[in-house]
Amino acid sequence: MSSKFTEQETETYYDGQDEIYRSVWDKEGSVHWGVFDDNTGDDFLKACSNLNDMMVDKGRINSSSNVLDLGCGNGTTAIWLNNDRGCQVTGIDLSGVRVNNAKNARTRLSQSAQDKLAFEKASATELPFGDATFTHLWSQATIYHVPDKESVLKEAYRVLKDGGIMVFDDLIKPKPEISDHAQKFVYDRLLYDTPFSFDSYQDALRAQGFKNLEAHDLSAHLKNSYLLLAGRVPKDSTEHAEHYAELADSYIQTAKAVDNQELGWGLYICQK
Ligand SMILES: C[S@@+](CC[C@H](N)C(=O)[O-])C[C@H]1O[C@@H](n2cnc3c(N)ncnc32)[C@H](O)[C@@H]1O
Repeated sequence: MSSKFTEQETETYYDGQDEIYRSVWDKEGSVHWGVFDDNTGDDFLKACSNLNDMMVDKGRINSSSNVLDLGCGNGTTAIWLNNDRGCQVTGIDLSGVRVNNAKNARTRLSQSAQDKLAFEKASATELPFGDATFTHLWSQATIYHVPDKESVLKEAYRVLKDGGIMVFDDLIKPKPEISDHAQKFVYDRLLYDTPFSFDSYQDALRAQGFKNLEAHDLSAHLKNSYLLLAGRVPKDSTEHAEHYAELADSYIQTAKAVDNQELGWGLYICQK
């Protein structure tokens, strides 16, 4: 199946929503979900940084890695990756506004960090890089937007070196039938659709030539993330009051969709 959303709509959406996202998710500009453990409590940003730690370890990224971040957004995680591991990171994103934010953030870093970071406006479906360029592909909360996910996996495989690792998370559809309610409040709102369940995603990776190293169903963490996000929506804003109220309600509906198995979240680590 294919989504009815176009890349142009996704680009326009993300170009326009940066201020709102920063006021709810993370003022530094990252927009991804979090993983909770016994020490996280209700700290959403700690949960987001737990996901980064989990992915960087499982992806075996180190100072000699050359990483491509697919859907880098404002560049927050790419900059963190470079700072944490000393690796080279290139970020691409569909949103010109976010790529410019990432480029601006880069200019505020030390020269040695700048030398190892690059940002470019591009689509994950058509990567402007040669075959076998990167040791790692990294992606958070991005591929769910792309109608043609197989083309993303194909491109990822193409630009990875032999033995290279792709570590990414994505939304999944645990059961094929989605209620009209979830379609409206979750799928349509997120500009999202997918043919993949947790298991069939791994089949799709295998079909592109990847060897699956690890896969984790993180759906319970997705639900927790949205419940906390609902609580982070500003309540005293006059400027965007109506939008924020809708957002808080949609986040609650999204958590319910996870409970109903209409939405899930998977983490995949695979190798070329
Ligand atoms: C939820 S945000 C996540 C951003 C970033 N990974 C993070 O963790 O903060 C989704 C991002 O995917 C980007 N995106 C959507 N479709 C894309 C595509 N086809 N190619 C590249 N980026 C895309 C959007 O512009 C947006 O910045």
